[in-house]
Formats: sequence, C-alpha cells, structure tokens
Amino acid sequence: MMNILVIGTGFVGVVSSAVFSSFGNTVIGLDVDEKKIQSLTQGNIPFFEPQLKELVQQGITSGNLTFSSSYAESVPQADVIILAVGTPSAPDGQADLKYVFASIQSLAPYIKDQVIIAIKSTVPPGTNQKVRELLEQELQKISKHVQFHLASLPEFLKEGSAVDDTLHPDRVVIGSESEFAKRVLSELHEPFRAPILHMKPESAQMCKYASNAYLATRITFVNQIANLCEENGANIQEVIQGMGYDKRIGSHYWYPGLGYGGSCFPKDVKELSAYAKAHGQSDNLLVTIDQLNEDRISMLLRKYEQILGGWQGKQVAVLGLAFKPNTDDLREAPSTKIIPQLLHAGATVRAYDPMATPVFKSWYPDLAVAYFELAPDALKDADCVFVLIEWKAIIQLSPEEIATQVKQGALFIDARNQFLDRRAQLESQGIRYMGIGV
Ligand SMILES: NC(=O)c1ccc[n+]([C@@H]2O[C@H](COP(=O)([O-])OP(=O)(O)OC[C@H]3O[C@@H](n4cnc5c(N)ncnc54)[C@H](O)[C@@H]3O)[C@@H](O)[C@H]2O)c1
Repeated sequence: MMNILVIGTGFVGVVSSAVFSSFGNTVIGLDVDEKKIQSLTQGNIPFFEPQLKELVQQGITSGNLTFSSSYAESVPQADVIILAVGTPSAPDGQADLKYVFASIQSLAPYIKDQVIIAIKSTVPPGTNQKVRELLEQELQKISKHVQFHLASLPEFLKEGSAVDDTLHPDRVVIGSESEFAKRVLSELHEPFRAPILHMKPESAQMCKYASNAYLATRITFVNQIANLCEENGANIQEVIQGMGYDKRIGSHYWYPGLGYGGSCFPKDVKELSAYAKAHGQSDNLLVTIDQLNEDRISMLLRKYEQILGGWQGKQVAVLGLAFKPNTDDLREAPSTKIIPQLLHAGATVRAYDPMATPVFKSWYPDLAVAYFELAPDALKDADCVFVLIEWKAIIQLSPEEIATQVKQGALFIDARNQFLDRRAQLESQGIRYMGIGV
C-alpha cells in the first residue's frame, strides 16, 4: 500500500482520493480552498455525484482518507503525488497551466527522494517537460537534491457515473519515460483489473484530448445529420438505428440534441483547436467542430422563436438545468445559455431540476427565474416547454400531466428526443411537438 497525495480536491481529485483510499492506500486530498477542505474533512462533498459521499465517508472512518490545505504537512510523506488541479482555458483558448505550475512550486520544498508526480489534470502534450524544468529550477533555488519521476495519468471518468467509471475503467493510461514510475503506477492501478497501457507522456496527453474530441465530434456529426433530416422528413433515430448495425459505426453514443456541454468536451475541443491553430493548422476539423457547437443553441433558439412568433411575453418552462442527469454540475449546461437569452428576449422562465437548482441560483442570483420543486408545477400555463436534460423525474411525465398544465397549442421542445414515443399522445392533446431531427 502506498502514501498518495492528491493535489486539487475538485471533482476529479475527490473521486480519485476516495477510490485510491478504498483500496487501502493512505490518501491525503490537498486543496488551497480551505472551505472545501473543512467541508470534505466532515465528509461533505460540495457537489452531487452518486456514491461519492458514501465512499468519502468510508475512507474518513477507516482512517485511510484525510484532507489538508498544508503542503508542508502533506507532501513529505507522499510516495505518489497526483495533480488534479483545474486547467481552465486561457483567453487564447489553450489550456491555462497556472494552477499546475503553482502546485509544483508549492510542493517543491517538501518532496522526498524518488517521489512520483503524476499529472491527472488534462494538459497539452509537452507539459511534462515544462513541469520538469520548473521543478528542477525550484529545487535548485533551495539547493535541494532529490530525484523525482514524472508521469502523465489522464482521467477518463464521466460525471454522473464517476465513482463507477473510476472503479471500473475501460483502460488505465500511464505516460512516462521512467521505469520506476511505470512500475509503481502499474502496481497502484492493479486493483482496477483494467488494461494498463504504457506510452510516451505526449501520447497519453493526446490520447485524453483525442478521446474527448472524438466523442464531441460524434455529437456534432449526428446533429449535422439531424439538421438535414429536418429538411427532408427523415427521422434521425431511425437513421441512427440503421447506421448502428454497421459494426464499424456501432449504435452507442449517438445523442442528437443541443450540442455537447459539461466541464470537459467544450474545454478540451477548444484547447485542441487552439493548439492546432497555434501550430499552423487553422483548417483542423476541431476548429469547425468547436464553432458548430458554439453556434448551435443560438441557431435553434432563432428557429423556435420564429415558430412561436417571438419570446416577448411568453411563459417558458425549462426542465433540466444541469448539463446532464445525475449531476448538479452546470458547466457549459444548455440551461446557462438558453435561460439568459430567453429572459433577455422578454420571456418569463419557470425552471425545474431535481438537483442543480441551488447551484443555478448561486451562479445567477440576479436572474428573474421562478424555480419549482416539482416538474409539473414548472409547466403551469407554459407557451413553450424545453426538455433539456433526461432526468428521470422529467422524462417520466405523462402526456396527460403535461397537457393539463401547459397552454393549449404549447410548443414542446424535446431537446433529447425522450418523448418521441409519446409524440402522438402529446399532439392529440393539442401540443406542438418538436424533437431534434425527427
Ligand atoms: N470534471 C471532469 O469530469 C473531468 C474529467 C476528466 C478530466 N478532468 C480534468 O481534471 C482536472 C480537474 O478537473 P475538475 O473538474 O476536478 O476541476 P475543479 O475545478 O472541480 O477542481 C480543481 C481544484 O483544484 C484546486 N486548486 C487550484 N490550484 C491549486 C493549487 N495550487 N493547489 C491545490 N489545489 C489547487 C481548486 O481549488 C479546485 O478545488 C482538469 O484538468 C480537468 O480538465 C476533469
């Protein structure tokens, strides 16, 4: 068993800390945000993620998991340091590595000899070399002589099923030139019983970006085909079914909708696209993917506005504020783009989400939105309904329940095609149904 230090107890850091501690390792989660550390120490997670609270509390009770805001107290005993700090996009679109560099500067005085530093944050290829140079400089400044090993350890979890994804990953990617780091990190990941792939750090980092960029491309691709279906009467769901039987294509991971959101896809595609531009490849496919995704919601809103005859004075119900079900994460959620635009255009907004309402309120304290505890209440007298996210409580609404609440002739925008099987019932109640590409 090993002494692990996870730096950055945001989404990825807390999940990693809890999972590594559940395998019997001694884990410290470290963050500069003292309030977060205080709350984690008491077993409270500042966001919602299924199974996570229980796993963190188990770790704390077993004594394997603690949290700290002190580099001086946490770094010296660590065999493996996992960096999971944020890497937001800089104004030029490339990844801003300031938190990665700051954590390296903070840990430098305290590392022990032969420590392994594994970068789990999503960072561009070439970052390990920059980190190596920075750490060597910092050590030189204080005349400290220790050997360290660097690795890239990209994270592939999905919010909403993060604990399960981390416990049962499809693969573990370890990018390192150090034989020692490869051996120790392989040992650390043995309990996951997943294929362990060793590669160059640059490949590991590209592998992370490329995986997200591919999934984002798939979403954009199916939306482009959906746009064409709307011109010719084809049904995108049938098209997906027909394509999916081709084994080279597959039937999974097709989500026609409002485009991709969340904390990773938009950021990673933007970063890879900015990276391509910075390397003279402005015609890279991802530059276009990013632009199409950026424009998609506004393009659709203009279309809905025309159908509805303008937003001014209209009552709009928005169901689903989070960027996907089973999370309260609002980063790049469709609601964050749609609601401000609707209000600006003169609509009244009534919103419902089973989990993310408190976060939405805290992000937008000044937005005049009416929030409801139950989905049917948000529908009352609606001229237009947006089903943005497929939370169970939303997609279980019956056509009758919807029809009794909304205005006669209301426009029902099923942005995830979840009510397609009940389209005829909705329409028979006088509701104007609009899915995506159907
Ligand atoms: N969220 C995801 O689903 C996901 C999935 C895969 C990869 N990633 C990547 O993992 C990284 C972390 O993402 P996240 O969503 O957990 O971010 P986050 O913003 O939720 O958390 C980052 C944490 O790092 C802390 N931090 C910043 N500077 C620090 C420092 N110098 N020392 C200690 N702590 C510091 C912040 O206080 C914050 O708590 C990013 O690079 C992201 O792209 C995220």
